[in-house]
Amino acid sequence: MHGKTALVTGSTGGIGRETARGLVALGARVILVGRDPVRARQAAAELAAHGGTVEALTADVTGLPDVARLAAQVAERCDRLDVLVNNVGVNPPRRTLTEDGVEATFAAHVLAPFTLTRLLLPLLAGRVVNITGGIPGGRIDLDNLQGERRYLGWTFSQYNHTKTMLMAMSLRFAEQVDGSGVTVNVAYPGHGHTPMNQSMTAAGFPYAYRPIVPLLRLAAPRLFGDLSKPARSSVHLASSPEVEGVNGAYFTMTCRRAPWPAGALDRRAQDAVWRLCETLAGGTV
Ligand SMILES: NC(=O)c1ccc[n+]([C@@H]2O[C@H](COP(=O)([O-])OP(=O)(O)OC[C@H]3O[C@@H](n4cnc5c(N)ncnc54)[C@H](OP(=O)(O)O)[C@@H]3O)[C@@H](O)[C@H]2O)c1
Repeated sequence: MHGKTALVTGSTGGIGRETARGLVALGARVILVGRDPVRARQAAAELAAHGGTVEALTADVTGLPDVARLAAQVAERCDRLDVLVNNVGVNPPRRTLTEDGVEATFAAHVLAPFTLTRLLLPLLAGRVVNITGGIPGGRIDLDNLQGERRYLGWTFSQYNHTKTMLMAMSLRFAEQVDGSGVTVNVAYPGHGHTPMNQSMTAAGFPYAYRPIVPLLRLAAPRLFGDLSKPARSSVHLASSPEVEGVNGAYFTMTCRRAPWPAGALDRRAQDAVWRLCETLAGGTV
């Protein structure tokens, strides 16, 4: 990765920071993104402590003006971007809207990767890695893209639903950039005891999973405390020569290529998600 530049969103903590750490260790210049300038500066200093070039930018990627500002700042710093990891994930326990009036999980998991990737396309000369999560793969409900009808159910969660939409949007993106030198793939990280998970209460889980939440919380620090593990799939997709030129693929937490879930392959759902992103992004892209 020497001579290459990577941007990782949501990289001042959690799995994103470990992804950034992995890329710095491979010699990449890495641009971190988080919402808080102090945390961003501290993370950059920590990652650069053993050598390497690490810079930090501040943006809330769930807000379209911030995404546009972030893309402009990246363009000021780089002539070319080799890797973009769209890593930010959120999981509020109830339906919330961003300042743009977009449902928050849709904004973080689908609209932000769509908009940031579109804005950075002129600079991109390499790999886009989108991070899925939860239990993705169910049917995409075209009447509920922003959780208007239900947000949590027996096994349904808008978190999982939007991660499936991210996968559908990534497949469409991969088709559009095919042959251009840019690739778009999706990585599944696996569980990590991160700030997001630490702050989640049982109220944020589908009803069927709530009984196991106390057990999960008890075991998580020991079982899932090493965040280098869930960062492996994103580092692999962002850097490995083994996946050079691979486009439109889905990789598991063990860095193996896996079939796409049926929900993401549904062409009607891909169209609907893409159209909604175009409408919401409006003049930003
Ligand atoms: N943790 C898991 O078990 C797990 C499992 C499967 C998939 N995933 C996925 O992996 C990705 C990373 O998850 P994580 O658990 O590491 O998340 P996390 O704990 O919430 O990540 C924290 C990082 O994201 C930044 N961040 C949060 N919201 C942001 C926003 N709106 N704009 C910019 N930066 C933001 C935080 O910095 P500031 O607070 O300073 O902004 C911090 O750097 C997500 O896409 C998640 O869905 C996680």
